[in-house]
Amino acid sequence: MRESQCRVLCTARKCGLLKWFSLKVCKRSTFLFAVLWFGSWLLLNGLLLVHRNMFSDVCTDDKSRSILQRVCEEYQQGVLTGDLCEDLCIGGNVEYKRCLYYENGKKVMVADWRGIPVVLKSKLENFSSYEPFGFLDYLDTPGNTGVQEELTPLDVVLYATLEIKNSLGLEINVNMSLPQLWGQHVREQGWVYSQAELASLWALLQQEEYTFLRVLQDLSHHVAKVVGSCGHFYAVEYLVAGHAWDQNIFSVDDSSGLDQTSWNGYRKPGVDRDRIHRIALSFLDMVEHFEEDFSHHLHLCDIKPENFAIRKDLTVVAIDVDMAFFEPKMQDILEQNCTSDRDCNFFDCVSKCDTHKRKCDSKRKNSNLQVICEKIFRPWFSPTVLGSKAGLPLQVELQSAVQECAETEGGLDIEYGRAIRQRLSRLLTHLLQESAANKQAQEHIRSGYPHTALNF
Ligand SMILES: Nc1ncnc2c1ncn2[C@@H]1O[C@H](COP(=O)(O)OP(=O)(O)OP(=O)(O)O)[C@@H](O)[C@H]1O
Ligand SMILES: *[C@@H]1O[C@H](CO)[C@@H](O)[C@H](O)[C@H]1NC(C)=O
Ligand SMILES: *[C@@H]1O[C@H](CO)[C@@H](O)[C@H](O)[C@H]1NC(C)=O
Ligand SMILES: *[C@@H]1O[C@H](CO)[C@@H](O)[C@H](O)[C@H]1NC(C)=O
Repeated sequence: MRESQCRVLCTARKCGLLKWFSLKVCKRSTFLFAVLWFGSWLLLNGLLLVHRNMFSDVCTDDKSRSILQRVCEEYQQGVLTGDLCEDLCIGGNVEYKRCLYYENGKKVMVADWRGIPVVLKSKLENFSSYEPFGFLDYLDTPGNTGVQEELTPLDVVLYATLEIKNSLGLEINVNMSLPQLWGQHVREQGWVYSQAELASLWALLQQEEYTFLRVLQDLSHHVAKVVGSCGHFYAVEYLVAGHAWDQNIFSVDDSSGLDQTSWNGYRKPGVDRDRIHRIALSFLDMVEHFEEDFSHHLHLCDIKPENFAIRKDLTVVAIDVDMAFFEPKMQDILEQNCTSDRDCNFFDCVSKCDTHKRKCDSKRKNSNLQVICEKIFRPWFSPTVLGSKAGLPLQVELQSAVQECAETEGGLDIEYGRAIRQRLSRLLTHLLQESAANKQAQEHIRSGYPHTALNF
């Protein structure tokens, strides 16, 4: 446990550093750009060359394209397969757009699939880097040609279920996950998995994020939809992720086709505050859902705007699920030796140190709601952001509710958490109603005096 915890810690820290670093680099290069704009074009071109070289080991289109090309070569050789392969490799219906990944991390790229933007992901770039399916070696040995027939779909499902159980720390009900996980084929009598199918399935199952998303696909609309896969790459719906470094809560870039200005919550108060309130309501819905709708409570241990995204309908979606754990696994992670409470912090999931037993309490002390209030709601609803609106009664009440939610000592017990959630939800709904009424009144005034602008 220690080891894996450490691994998670290190990678997350590294990623954080990388993001921080590339942010600095970005800021610096825009500054330089501004200065040199008045200088010579030659100098500017030189700088851009340096700039490009600095980024070359981060993420390039060439590298991404060659990764995808290798996937397709292996598909054509029959090494791997998946429902996206034909569109990607033969039909040309999957068009690479740009990459989102950092070196050493997951490979993440944006593509266009039959006109729909999707994100292609894989933890490792090469198919061969994943552990092969245990049975395959056995099948490969000469003189064992008949064995493949004996590997029934049920065997595969049982193996896969064990793998999932292992990865999520859950008892997975085989009946429930069977059709979701392996498609319709399982039900067909006499179906035999090809080696490519087994190998691809196995590569996917080694990616905790894929497993997690797959299991929750039909159970939750607060996780990204997996739309297909080819080999070790899986495609999820493209979403608009939050940013920490600018003041736009969820700003949109080009390819999403959404109206950019409308997401900038702080730029146009009044109109766009509604969006913030709707998004906040969806956060509350997600909290309730993760707490009450699964057989185990789902803990989010890395809560920050970048790890959430929104759909067009403003549903909040958890996109970085590397730090999402169901209760049994959470207890495993928290149960560590300790000398003080400080030893019992696992990112945003904390528990208390029992100084007699020198062990951390396996029950998490804080809650998803509490951390969301602290790290997401508090900045959104702070008086400085609201400006002149901060003094309005509903706003004041909302601020105090958020404050209370974020600061509750010793965490929120279930009942109290529910009460806070309901209070926040009621206030947000009121604010939306108030704003709708205001808009209607304005509309009314405008339509009452249709020619005011022309009355001169
Ligand atoms: N479905 C999606 N739609 C749009 N952007 C996404 C989506 N999934 C991930 N991203 C973006 O791609 C980047 C990397 O994705 P992801 O978070 O899965 O990788 P990671 O290596 O776990 O990153 P992190 O450093 O946050 O842990 C992130 O900046 C995220 O905003
Ligand atoms: C992936 O495969 C390519 C070609 O076989 C190789 O050049 C590259 O180093 C491999 N990458 C990793 C991370 O193994
Ligand atoms: C799966 O379904 C069968 C019949 O539909 C049932 O008998 C069995 O108990 C179920 N298994 C689980 C683990 O729910
Ligand atoms: C925790 O402490 C116990 C003794 O109190 C020791 O046996 C065990 O190895 C320790 N575990 C770790 C992970 O340090």
